[in-house]
Order: sequence, then structure tokens, then C-alpha cells
Amino acid sequence: MKVVCVVGARPNFMKIAPIVAELRGFQDIETILVHTGQHYDNAMSEIFFQELDIQKPDFNLGVGSGTHTEQTAQVMLALEPLFVNLCPDLILVVGDVNSTLAAALVATKLRIPLAHIEAGLRSYDREMPEEVNRVLTDAMADYLFTTEPEAAQNLRREGINDDRIFFVGNVMIDTLVRHRKQAESLNMPARFNLTTDNYALVTLHRPSNVDSPTMLHGLLAAINTIQLRIPVLFPVHPRTRRRIAEAGLQQTVDAMANLRLVDPLGYLDFLGIMAGARLVLTDSGGIQEETTILGVPCLTLRENTERPVTVTAGTNQIVGTNPERIVAAAMQAIETRIHEFRQPELWDGHAAERIVAIIRTLNPKRVRTHI
Ligand code: UD1
Repeated sequence: MKVVCVVGARPNFMKIAPIVAELRGFQDIETILVHTGQHYDNAMSEIFFQELDIQKPDFNLGVGSGTHTEQTAQVMLALEPLFVNLCPDLILVVGDVNSTLAAALVATKLRIPLAHIEAGLRSYDREMPEEVNRVLTDAMADYLFTTEPEAAQNLRREGINDDRIFFVGNVMIDTLVRHRKQAESLNMPARFNLTTDNYALVTLHRPSNVDSPTMLHGLLAAINTIQLRIPVLFPVHPRTRRRIAEAGLQQTVDAMANLRLVDPLGYLDFLGIMAGARLVLTDSGGIQEETTILGVPCLTLRENTERPVTVTAGTNQIVGTNPERIVAAAMQAIETRIHEFRQPELWDGHAAERIVAIIRTLNPKRVRTHI
């Protein structure tokens, strides 16, 4: 069986790492890794391949940034001839970035069987580009691998039959389990002159949060109050760094004595710093999951989540974007000890094994291209 795995952006890399490693353990499977180049900076891409020991991509399409339409179209244009040439039995995509959708569209148009890892997550908020990518990718996928039970219900509601849905757990947690000890041994808090359990970690990059100067101003005002109480470390996504400058907020940020802005961190450094935090404030999807396993309180600065198990089982709280509400939730999280949390079902470090075991039982029809 020839399996082509497609990745493009930062959150894809920690998801594909355990899958590719597992696939490559089987001699009867030929595994090809394609990087679309949606993310291209060392800090956003290369470092993850090194640290997670992901084999160099067999193909890098170098697509880069652009509007959503440009980016999606460029990935499609680059992937079509490649898929035709490779003639795979299965295309495997992970997550919900533009590269995921683009690869799914090309696979479907070429009638190549498609597997989607992390299927069925729904925020029911079409303002999020990722929600559109998730819904459309799932509508096209032949095999849908889910991370939490609610995902299957979402998929059933969209008319997808149970026989194509496989509840396998969370590959992102496979990667966390594999690297946690190594990350914790780096003593990351000390490297930033911070004390374990006595700092907050912030990440922000959603367009809905950082593209509007008013919204960004409000979120920074909340961070300002929080940093008066506890040191705050903020690894800044390139989009966010640009938006802070464009909104004329750089001076506001510079004036916060207890806030430290740093460039995006690699996987191990970030995991190490996250594991030692008193609390995390974020708009990321993956970080909601990782803090759930680490038992670190997470305040999600969004109005909804597509990952409800992180709230029902884990340490996640959806606090929205109102600055007073964020500050109140942060103060409470700093003052009180963590509430109970448990490991969501099948978030045990073995999801990739389950996925590959299932792939080996599939008998995807050979490719029939329209070309
Ligand atoms: C993308 C994903 C998002 C994911 C995020 C993680 C989509 C729709 N969004 O958002 O789901 O959570 O990645 O980071 O696919 N840039 C660089 N260097 C890079 C990559 C990007 O400087 O290596 C800058 C560029 O100015 C670019 C901007 O960041 O225009 C946004 O990049 P893009 O890939 O469009 O989306 P993200 O916001 O990173």
C-alpha cells in the first residue's frame, strides 16, 4: 500500500510525527511525506522536523503565505500533478489548516481514498477558517479518525456512516507522551528566569483575536493586569507580532515590566515551559488538549471550542474575550488549586498505532484519476 501524508503548518507536524513513524515500521507500506510549505520559517516548521525526528519530507512544495484562496489554490495546483504521478492508494491528512483542505479536495477530485485524522471536531462557528476546513474535509474523507466521542456524533449528524468512523484517540498526545520527560528536563522556566508554577504562559494567533486592533487592545489590557500579579511569558506568532506593530500597540506591550515577548518556541521548549506554568491563556486548539494532559489550568480566549472533552474532562475553561472576564478567571486560577481532571479516553500515547492497524485492514480501491 502506498500512503501519501500531507502536512503544511505548525500544528500538523506534531500530529504526523507518530503516524509516519508507525507507518514506516511496516515494510508492506510505502510512506511518502509531502510538506506544502504553508509554514516555512525555521521556528514554524524546520525545528519540529528536527526535534520530533520526522524524516525530511520527500517533497516540499514551497507554497508559502497568501490569502486563504491563494494559499489553498496554490497547494491544490502543486499537489495535483504530484498525486497523479505518485498514484497513491491512500492520502492521509491531519487537522484543519488550509493545506489539509487543499489536499482533501485534490484527493477527492482524483478519486484517491482519503483518511482524515482528527475528524469530527466542531466549534459550529463558521467565522473560524479552521471550522470550514474541518467540515469540508470530513465531507470528503472516506475514513474518519476521531479523538473524542462527541466527534462521532457530529459526523453522524452530517450523514456519515459509523462504518467509516474510527475512534482512535489523539496523536498529538502520542507526541506529548513521547517527549514530556525530555522537555521537562530542559528546565525551561529557569532559562527564562521564571519559577515553576509561578508564571502565566500566553499564546494568541487567531485572526478573530489579533486582526482587529480593538480586540487585540482588549486582550493586551487583560494581560497587562495579569502581569502585575504574576510574570507572563508570551511566545509570539509572526502574524501576532505584525498585528501588534500595525495596531500601534508595541509601546503598550513594551511598557509591561512583567511581560516577556519571545519568538515562537520549538516543540520541546514550549512543552517544557507549558508543563511548568501556573496557568496558560491561549486561543490555540492544540494547547487546550496538551494542558489537559499536563493538568495545567487553561483559559481559552475564545467563545467556543471544538474540543469539548478538554472542558468536561480536562483543565480547560472557555472564558471568551472580555478583558474583565479574562482577568477574573486568571486571578481565580492563580489563587485556587487545580480542580479535578482526568485523561480523556484513549489519550494514552497509542493513537498512531491504532490508526495504522486500521489502515492495514483497509482495502482502498486503486486510484482512478480523471486525467
Ligand atoms: C495557520 C492555520 C491555523 C493554525 C496556525 C498555527 C489555517 C487557516 N490556519 O494559521 O489553523 O493554528 O497555522 O500557526 O491554515 N508566517 C510567517 N512564517 C511562517 C508562516 C507564516 O511569517 O512560517 C506569517 C505570514 O505573515 C503569514 C501569517 O504568518 O501571512 C499567517 O500564516 P498562515 O499560514 O496564513 O496562517 P496562520 O495564522 O499561521
